[in-house]
Amino acid sequence: MSPFLLTRTLPEDATDAALRADVLKGLTSTPKTLPPKWFYDAKGSELFEQITELPEYYPTRAEREILVDRAHEIAAVTGARTLVELGSGSSEKTRYVIEALTRLHTYVPVDVSESALAQAGHALVEERPELAVHALIADFTGGLALPDTPGPRLLAFLGGTIGNLLPEERAAFLTSVRALLSPGDALLLGTDLVKDERVLVQAYDDAAGVTAAFNKNVMAVINRELGADFALDAFDHVALWDADREWVEMRLRSRRAQTVKVPALGLAVEFAAGEELRTEVSAKFRRDGVRAELAAAGLELAHWWTDSEERFALSLSVVR
Ligand code: AVJ
Repeated sequence: MSPFLLTRTLPEDATDAALRADVLKGLTSTPKTLPPKWFYDAKGSELFEQITELPEYYPTRAEREILVDRAHEIAAVTGARTLVELGSGSSEKTRYVIEALTRLHTYVPVDVSESALAQAGHALVEERPELAVHALIADFTGGLALPDTPGPRLLAFLGGTIGNLLPEERAAFLTSVRALLSPGDALLLGTDLVKDERVLVQAYDDAAGVTAAFNKNVMAVINRELGADFALDAFDHVALWDADREWVEMRLRSRRAQTVKVPALGLAVEFAAGEELRTEVSAKFRRDGVRAELAAAGLELAHWWTDSEERFALSLSVVR
């Protein structure tokens, strides 16, 4: 039997304090914003799983295609003995890489969702009894301390989630990732690519309304956790493409003038009719931009793989 360890690097009340701070800052800013990480309670995580199966939401399928095609190449190039996965969620697509990494000693899934980590970890331990799984409950944007495990290390950040960070946040994030790596280690990064505006907007505004429900769920999270009184049907889901900044934005648009109370923060938030609250940025990338951002953090792009329709890319970069 291989070990399955679960380490909480954040105290349980840290999540609560972070939510309060983010909601206070975001709802008192102009324009109003909320960070996308608060979508993912049990309901939000389930809605996201449904999104990945929608006909309009291509990134998951495109990334899976690349992983299936390239898993053996990734394994051969990296020879990784430790695989660290940031934002691992269900670890479903990572399986292809894990299976190809025949010399793998330890898998370190990192996620804020304890339930996702426990599920994914136990399933793996059954399939690969000799593999050590050391799950970390952590926010990967904070300073991570990794367990002492054999190198080379492969750090994977899949799904295009790096696109949820603003440019300055991405620079800081990549620099902190670089600091976790030693010569011989590598970063496997998933990035969604710039493409036709209609394809992009439809991916975030599906006909079945699942993404709308996912977007509105952040209000349910704040209602439950902070006693707020957001009326979910008093807001419309909005998805738009910002062509200058090359990112998709999700917003919640107030259908009327209204006041939302957040008792835990002693806050009353005024919304004008039509006022929009930004809930997510999902940046889309080009190869030269990814190369430049990696280089600025001390990482060198070594491989760039796309799916057959060039919708999504996986890059492998190494310490310079
Ligand atoms: C999980 C962050 C990659 O930005 O495409 C899906 C989240 N938001 N539909 C993305 C999401 C709306 C997704 N990531």
